[in-house]
Amino acid sequence: MKRGASGGVAKNREPRAVGKTVKASRSEMAEVVLPADTNPLGKLLGGHVMHLVDVAAAMAASRHSNSYVVTASVDSIDFRNPINVGELVILKSQVNRVFNTSMEVGVKVFSENTLTDERRHTTTAYVTFVALDEFTRRPKRVPPLIVRTGEETRRWREAGERRKVRLALCFKKRARD
Ligand SMILES: CC(C)(COP(=O)(O)OP(=O)(O)OC[C@H]1O[C@@H](n2cnc3c(N)ncnc32)[C@H](O)[C@@H]1OP(=O)(O)O)[C@@H](O)C(=O)NCCC(=O)NCCS
Repeated sequence: MKRGASGGVAKNREPRAVGKTVKASRSEMAEVVLPADTNPLGKLLGGHVMHLVDVAAAMAASRHSNSYVVTASVDSIDFRNPINVGELVILKSQVNRVFNTSMEVGVKVFSENTLTDERRHTTTAYVTFVALDEFTRRPKRVPPLIVRTGEETRRWREAGERRKVRLALCFKKRARD
């Protein structure tokens, strides 16, 4: 039988109405850039960065929703700086905004040279996840997001603007299909 965080028996499979903070979703992962994941110039492959972005974003989305999540879309990704073999690649993710069954997660990627302590911001990405009901595998509502700081409010506002563009492109594509 399913039990809530407080230990009580969940009445149904609807998500809790109680909101969760942005901080609760915050996630971080890091790995050493190994030669197998680099191009002939010793730079981390873009495809590997995209894979790590998806994984780091999924951590934040599933932490917020306490659900299985699937990637619905990934906004464009710019690679501002390369990450070299031997450096650390560090990813930080957090939920920016919750809609109904979907969430936008922001991911920042950094490189760190452990010999010099130099850390550089290399990539920012926005990934949309949909929470799925564990039994029906259909989209389910996710808890509201509690936005506290000015920075979180800015991200929340900007996520709304990005959603408009994202869905416009998505629906145009569907109409053409
Ligand atoms: C994402 C998916 C669950 C949406 O299912 P659906 O039946 O189209 O569901 P709905 O139309 O009810 O949309 C559900 C939510 O997804 C959002 N969504 C759907 N397609 C989207 C897209 N391309 N970009 C952003 N959001 C999208 C909708 O806006 C809606 O969000 P909201 O409830 O917060 O308003 C479904 O398309 C799917 O399973 N896709 C494959 C996912 C996958 O395999 N990912 C890679 C591996 S994890």
